[in-house]
Amino acid sequence: MALNKSLGPDYVKGIRVAEPGPGVKSGTGLNKGTLMSDFLNAYSIQRWLELCPQGYLEDTVYGHGADEQEPLIEDEVLREAEIRTTVQLVVGERAALAASSGLVNAAPDYPSKRFLATQTLDEARHVEIFTQRLYDLGVKKDDLESTIDQFANPHLVKFAEVLLEKVDNKDFVAGVVGQNIVLEGMAFTVFEMLEAGNRQLNPKFAHTLEGTIADERRHVGFGENRIGSLIRQYPEKKPEIERMQQEMSYHMLNTFSSAFEESEEARAVEKELAQEAGVESAEWQGVDLASADTSELEGALENTVINEFKTRLARIGLEYQAPQGV
Ligand SMILES: [Fe+2]
Ligand SMILES: [Fe+2]
Repeated sequence: MALNKSLGPDYVKGIRVAEPGPGVKSGTGLNKGTLMSDFLNAYSIQRWLELCPQGYLEDTVYGHGADEQEPLIEDEVLREAEIRTTVQLVVGERAALAASSGLVNAAPDYPSKRFLATQTLDEARHVEIFTQRLYDLGVKKDDLESTIDQFANPHLVKFAEVLLEKVDNKDFVAGVVGQNIVLEGMAFTVFEMLEAGNRQLNPKFAHTLEGTIADERRHVGFGENRIGSLIRQYPEKKPEIERMQQEMSYHMLNTFSSAFEESEEARAVEKELAQEAGVESAEWQGVDLASADTSELEGALENTVINEFKTRLARIGLEYQAPQGV
């Protein structure tokens, strides 16, 4: 079979399943699929079935309760802002889907491959549920791609490109840091902020986000646990990975600043609606999401994501690199 041939004869025997990436030597025991299997048991498909489809996702429909609906939005500025935000979620999740599926074949051991297969399905589900939210907000199915093209933040597209280049090169270590620490550390925090802000005004969307937050929490955990030992084993890869993190952070901060700039007008409408609906303060990271202006929101989001990066990178032996000129 052409596919197996291209991956080498050992691929089918499961002995040497993949190199851990450019610049990393094989023959160190890393390729024996049993090495990481103990801690990876927590990330087995059986565990995934129990936690997700049979656990917190049971009885959900596109991630929310079957009886929950998107509230009607009469204000056109606000509806467009909701579409714009949701498009960024679809773009980010499409990148996560491409990265996690690409990393299946780059992973050096079978337990990691199996986990990444579950992650691939999680990310495909995230793409689906956020795409469904676009439909719920009134985007026609025929207009899906043009709507995504119109609203996708160019900085977010660049952010994804930096990661996908590593994945295309089958660079497992850089790919997992870029995907499971940087992309998901960002996504996780953005989802938590959106969930806190929507809990009272839009429970349907808040519940959709809750399931994705639980998924992302698991993905980030895998990244930290799996990659720490690889970084210790291949310290020579550190500078290149830190450069990738710096570049991704640069595009991420630019994504945030342009997104908040664009949402200025919608934010005023949102604040009015929250007041009319009697929303009590929606506190997140020391900011009241119901009354904060866009610059306060941006500051809180940036600080939270960067602190998240610092903590998680330190745990795997890397130092956060602040991007220049942002
Ligand atoms: Fe995701
Ligand atoms: Fe994820």
